[in-house]
Amino acid sequence: MEFFVAGSGPARQRTECAIVGVFDQGTLGSAAAELDQRIGGRIARMVKRGDLRGKLGDVQILLDVEGPCERVAVVGLGARDEFRRKQYRKALASALSAIGRTGARDAVSWLGLEPMADADTYTLARASAEVVAQHAYRIPAHKSANTRAKTRLTRFGFAVAARGERAKAERGLEHGEAIAAGMELARDLANQPANVCTPSHLANAARELAREHRKIRVRILDEQECRKLRMGAFLSVTAGTQEPARLIVLEYRNGPRGRAPTALVGKGVTFDTGGISLKPPAAMDEMKFDMSGAASVLGTFRAVAQLGLPVNLVGVVPACENMPSGRATKPGDIVKSMSGQTIEVLNTDAEGRLILCDAITYARRFKPAAVIDIATLTGACVIALGNQMSGLFSNDDGLAQALLEAGIRADDRAWHMPIGEEYAEQLKSNFADFANVGGREGGAITAACFLSKFTEGLKWAHLDIAGTAYVSGSQKSSTGRPVPLLVDYLVNNA
Ligand code: BES
Ligand code: MN
Ligand code: ZN
Repeated sequence: MEFFVAGSGPARQRTECAIVGVFDQGTLGSAAAELDQRIGGRIARMVKRGDLRGKLGDVQILLDVEGPCERVAVVGLGARDEFRRKQYRKALASALSAIGRTGARDAVSWLGLEPMADADTYTLARASAEVVAQHAYRIPAHKSANTRAKTRLTRFGFAVAARGERAKAERGLEHGEAIAAGMELARDLANQPANVCTPSHLANAARELAREHRKIRVRILDEQECRKLRMGAFLSVTAGTQEPARLIVLEYRNGPRGRAPTALVGKGVTFDTGGISLKPPAAMDEMKFDMSGAASVLGTFRAVAQLGLPVNLVGVVPACENMPSGRATKPGDIVKSMSGQTIEVLNTDAEGRLILCDAITYARRFKPAAVIDIATLTGACVIALGNQMSGLFSNDDGLAQALLEAGIRADDRAWHMPIGEEYAEQLKSNFADFANVGGREGGAITAACFLSKFTEGLKWAHLDIAGTAYVSGSQKSSTGRPVPLLVDYLVNNA
């Protein structure tokens, strides 16, 4: 997809499809009104006849238009005083679906010119590029036939009202495109079945990134090297599988020399059966998405490298399967983490925290300014927050606030959750320094408390994305979250 900024009004801009809006009760948006004059009142007539009422997301396409555009997609924008970024995204997505059924190869949207309380030109351009790119996204093909047709649209124009807005719009499109590229990588990896997306596959994807971007360096550690590092917690999770585990280490250095890097640590369980604490069969296939944290780290690296952001970034991805077998870790087994702390594994299904704790300890060697881990860590987080917001836990209120604000700007929100000694009580063990589970109550919180035992002296945040990384049901797919949040955070940190 090619993106560009369009500087003319709809009455003058040549395009195969103009996108303009109508508010509820049939009030034409400013661009619709301007275009309507030029094309003989066709939009107003259509509205008057009741063919489009302005309900958010309703679309009609005028074909065979005599004017600078060949077609007009007229989109319902809903109530004017409720028109915000969220409605904007929905309206644009609906327009793209309708345009996808036409032969249009390029389109220009003027929807961004309608006044919105929560958006400036940069943010809207960025959101537009994301919406357009995501609309073009297709799940990696494994079907023999009937794969969803590719959209014919290859060029998208974002219209601005004034010359002074052009630079902001261009920057927004560029950032949106990079975020979308990062999300695409994350989604492609997570949507693959676990017999394709293995730990070695993730390692190859990281190597591929390093080939594409000179500033990214990759190192892959095998199990023997992890054993040398005494990563007893990580290795206990991979004990039951035949599939070799990998520790993937990425570095992107493009910030001031000597400036401490941000470390991203992503859970890369390529399939989570639960191990000996075997999961029930219902929806177990969705545990192929249990490497979504890892995928978001790779996706963020892609976006950051594509933008050439002046930051220093480190990625640590522990990748393995969690399988039952005669060699698998058993409930009650005690393992020693790289930090030296011992853990009683009461439930082998609480494996994410076991691989993350060693990865966080490994990240210390980079003397990071902040460590952010991203993980599909707990079902309890989905019960607490549903599928809208990721859970955010941190030992530093400044870092937490920065991530929350990034999530708001990026339309990829997180919600600040508590941690603390009161909750950590639940992890007490008679046999080891602590247990890997703390009971049903506050399960997302005790999981975060477990991780916090490995973050002393680090500025650390944890994103539990179990509810946001993918959608279930008929639209089952990876979402690419929280790449937008992470990229926004890094853009604003640069
Ligand atoms: N990968 C799961 C968490 C998960 C559940 C992600 C549902 C997405 C959807 C994690 O490894 C897990 O199994 N967690 C257990 C922890 C429990 C044993 C303390 C859980 O949430 O049930
Ligand atoms: Mn599990
Ligand atoms: Zn898991």
